Amino acid sequence: MTEQKATNITWHDGDVTRADRNKLLGQKGATIWFTGLSGSGKSTVAVALEQALFARNKLVYRLDGDNVRHGINKNLGFSAEDRAENIRRIGEIAKLFVDAGVIALSSFVSPYRTDRDLVRAMHAESDMDFIEVYVDVPLAVAEERDPKGLYKKARAGEIPNFTGISDPYEAPETPELVLKSHEMSLEEEVDAVIALLQQRGILPA
Ligand SMILES: Nc1ncnc2c1ncn2[C@@H]1O[C@H](COP(=O)(O)OP(=O)(O)OP(=O)(O)O)[C@@H](O)[C@H]1O
Ligand SMILES: [Mg+2]
Repeated sequence: MTEQKATNITWHDGDVTRADRNKLLGQKGATIWFTGLSGSGKSTVAVALEQALFARNKLVYRLDGDNVRHGINKNLGFSAEDRAENIRRIGEIAKLFVDAGVIALSSFVSPYRTDRDLVRAMHAESDMDFIEVYVDVPLAVAEERDPKGLYKKARAGEIPNFTGISDPYEAPETPELVLKSHEMSLEEEVDAVIALLQQRGILPA
């Protein structure tokens, strides 16, 4: 639980509500949370999904791994503690987007179950949709792909705390969706997410 440091603070409501913004945009804000090993395909699927949703006139915004670490989370590293804070902040940012009526696509390894469950709980508390998508590939496949050359560096001992090599990955137990990106095409993955969003009433059927 993150310590609340400030005292004497009061929430100030506006007159325009989330429902108003959803109505204006003709959509329902929601968070689609991709989790999986580095190289599993989280960013690749998020980019393709962003394009597919945008083509349906939906306002979407991607939050992606290293991008966030360049800015708001530049003071965080890869210890378990920093990873937890990284994910908590991203969760809060995703919630701001949902509140704004936007469909937020987040692509982070987010290897720890408790961190992801915290973000899920944060969404539930505000009655917001949180769709956890597990991009599930065997480590060998991710390592073979190695799109950023990170596994090679991790195997050479150049990257400490590397998920799958020297740090654990805790798979989701009950994700809303599993994408086995070594057995599905990118198009099939995008279709599967869109079908789920339709089922959940986030997108019109
Ligand atoms: N069906 C598929 N779905 C997604 N990616 C695929 C698929 N088939 C092959 N790939 C390839 O797998 C790689 C996935 O890399 P990507 O950067 O998307 O992974 P990531 O999960 O975002 O990793 P990181 O956590 O390091 O950011 C890409 O090179 C992509 O082209
Ligand atoms: Mg990525």
